[in-house]
This record gives sequence, structure tokens and C-alpha cells, in this order.
Amino acid sequence: MLKALDRFRSKSKLIEKVDPNNLPNHVGIIMDGNGRWAKKRGLPRSAGHRAGAQNLKTITEFANNMGIACLTAYAFSTENWKRPKAEVDSLMELLLEYLHDKDELAGKNVAVRIIGDRSALSDEINHEIDEVEAYTKDRDGMVLYLAINYGGRQEIVRAVNQLCQQVQEGTLLPNQITEGLVSDYLYTNDMPEADLIIRPSGELRLSNFLLWQSAYSEFWFSDINWPDFTTKDFTQAILDYQQRNRRFGA
Ligand code: IPE
Ligand code: IPE
Ligand code: MG
Repeated sequence: MLKALDRFRSKSKLIEKVDPNNLPNHVGIIMDGNGRWAKKRGLPRSAGHRAGAQNLKTITEFANNMGIACLTAYAFSTENWKRPKAEVDSLMELLLEYLHDKDELAGKNVAVRIIGDRSALSDEINHEIDEVEAYTKDRDGMVLYLAINYGGRQEIVRAVNQLCQQVQEGTLLPNQITEGLVSDYLYTNDMPEADLIIRPSGELRLSNFLLWQSAYSEFWFSDINWPDFTTKDFTQAILDYQQRNRRFGA
């Protein structure tokens, strides 16, 4: 009991250091290390993915309470189809369950939106996506963007295709294509650029996450595997972000 209280105290101390006027508007999380988390415990990889999905619920609630406006969580990349079929199947099964648990995944006032190429996802998953987006669309808390079958390059190519189509139809001139217009054609057109990108698990790379939107992101890496990443780690990432000097080239 006393120990739990101590832990709470030290946690609350850390969070008190967060400056509410200097929060990142948009935090991206690359939820990596589920497989290694499971391996360490002698569990199947699917158990790691399950623990990772559970942890996203915890971090979502915490980030929303902290006042973060927008959180993007990388759940499945366009490259993750290269994994063994059994793992892909179990990930899709888990996604289906996760999206179905609307109240649990989004709490009371988080809005959920999906970014990525939905065409390769099953009808069942697409149905759950429509349901959860509609169910949470009028909420005024944080927006949780789930990146599913998302790839930064695919996203840019898709925007280029749509713009080329308009040029071909004669409704757009090539010199009218600006950075702003390209941004408008990305999945992320309604969100601010990523201020902070968090990647646990010890890997120091983007793995095709938010390529365009990370031009001026701050990065926070750690060796913790995603299922072990706590609200305290999230708070630490925010505190470290608040110590950074962002110059944007100026
Ligand atoms: C991240 O965990 C989840 C997905 C990519 C879907 P990993 O499955 O990549 O876990 P590691 O990197 O093998 O430990
Ligand atoms: C990035 O993790 C994708 C997600 C977390 C969804 P990966 O495990 O797929 O990335 P790499 O293969 O280590 O670069
Ligand atoms: Mg990985």
C-alpha cells in the first residue's frame, strides 16, 4: 500500500513539471517492441501485440487527460504484410477486437480516426472503422489517429496521383502545386504536423512513419518495449520535448 502510494507520489511529481502551455499539439508513437516483449517472457508474439494494444488504451487516456490535442499511433505499416501470414492474421484479428471495443479504446471524449490505405483491409475491419469513427466523431477531446496499413511513401504517392489526375483533367496547373496543397492531399490533412515522435524498443528509425509530417519533429527514443512503456515514460518524453529548442531553420 505504502509502496503504491510512493509510486503515485513520484509519478504525480513528474507530471507537475509539465508546462501545460507548451504541450506538443501532435504526438506520434511508433508502437514497437511487442515481439521482443513477448519473447523475453516466453510468450507468443501475439501476446505481445495484445499487451501493446492494451497499453495504447492506457496511454490514450493519459495523453487525453494531459491535454494533448492529437496522438497518432502506428499500428500496422504497409511493410508489415511481409510478416508470416499467421502473425498478420493475428494482428488483423486483434485490430478487429480493438476497434470493436469503442468505449474502452476511446474512453468518453476521444475521437478516433484511421489513416492509411483501407483498401487492403477486410470488410469487417472497414466496417468497424466506419463504426468507431462515426461513434466518436463529435467528441471534443483528443483525436486518436490509428495508422493502419499506413506508409509515408504510399501516402505521398497517393497525393501525387490525385494531383496528377486533376492536372490531366485541366482543373489544376502544375505550378499551383505547393507544399500546402500537397499537405491537403495527405491522410493527415486535418491535423497539425508532428511535434514529437516517440519510438520505444531501441530502434532509431522512422520505418516509413509520417515522412512528410516529421520534417521538423522532435524525436524521443528509448529501449523500453512498447508494452512496458508507461504513463511516466510518456510524461518524461513530454518533459524532454519541453527542453528542446525548436528553431525551424530560423
Ligand atoms: C510492433 O511490434 C507491432 C507491429 C509492427 C505491428 P513488433 O512486432 O515489431 O515487435 P518487435 O520489433 O519484433 O519486437
Ligand atoms: C514499425 O515497426 C511499424 C509499427 C510499429 C506498426 P516495425 O517493427 O515494422 O519496423 P522495423 O521493421 O523494425 O523497421
Ligand atoms: Mg518491430
